[in-house]
Amino acid sequence: MEDIKKIIQNIRNDFNNEELNELHLPENPFDAFVEWMKEAIQKQVPEYNAMVVSTVNQNLQPSSRIVYLRDYEKDTFTFYCNYLSKKSRDIQDNNKVALLFYWIPLQRQIRIEGIAKKSPIEKSKSYFESRPYENQISAYASVQSQKIASRSELLKKFEEYAQKFPTYPVPYPEHWGGWDVEAHYYEFWQGRPSRLHDRIAYEKQKDGSWTKYRLSP
Ligand SMILES: Cc1cc2nc3c(=O)[nH]c(=O)nc-3n(C[C@H](O)[C@H](O)[C@H](O)COP(=O)(O)O)c2cc1C
Repeated sequence: MEDIKKIIQNIRNDFNNEELNELHLPENPFDAFVEWMKEAIQKQVPEYNAMVVSTVNQNLQPSSRIVYLRDYEKDTFTFYCNYLSKKSRDIQDNNKVALLFYWIPLQRQIRIEGIAKKSPIEKSKSYFESRPYENQISAYASVQSQKIASRSELLKKFEEYAQKFPTYPVPYPEHWGGWDVEAHYYEFWQGRPSRLHDRIAYEKQKDGSWTKYRLSP
């Protein structure tokens, strides 16, 4: 164990990627996001659409977990889950959330802060219908974030719902759907040598325009 602690204390990756210059970044952070996402896809970053979603419940307790980004359009980022899950309950108490992408091969992270609201039901329905049969059944079998006695209990419920809904597509379950996060803050982080990283932030103003500034690493 001691050895592992020493390894963690002493590991020092120096970052040596290209600079991130505020003058070259678009005026609009969403355009910058799309550029970076395109690059992550082109460079085959593993799990490029996986992001951390952080919520804060009514006792002010933060909680984070990874979900997949499934859609984005002009400052709105969508993920899907069970509306009875812990994260959904947290959002119903407090709709302020943070999103985080970390793309190790590019030495980049993107931080987003925004307000979550339920996706329109037609959008959730249409995404649900695009999911494979087994995933659709799972949305019924798993009451996400609830305690269960055993894995066999879960598998039994999966079988029961597979018998109930033998044909594809399975009817849309209203307890499942999307959260649309509307961003009002973005930060683009590029790892640089000697811990002198580049950080460019964008903040939405009351009139809807964006201010862009550099942060100390
Ligand atoms: C790579 C990855 C992708 C995931 N994608 C999703 C997702 O899109 N939706 C989801 O509900 N959970 C997803 N999960 C599971 C969540 O991290 C989490 O365990 C689950 O949503 C329950 O979280 P909660 O109890 O805080 O609500 C993913 C996990 C990983 C590691």
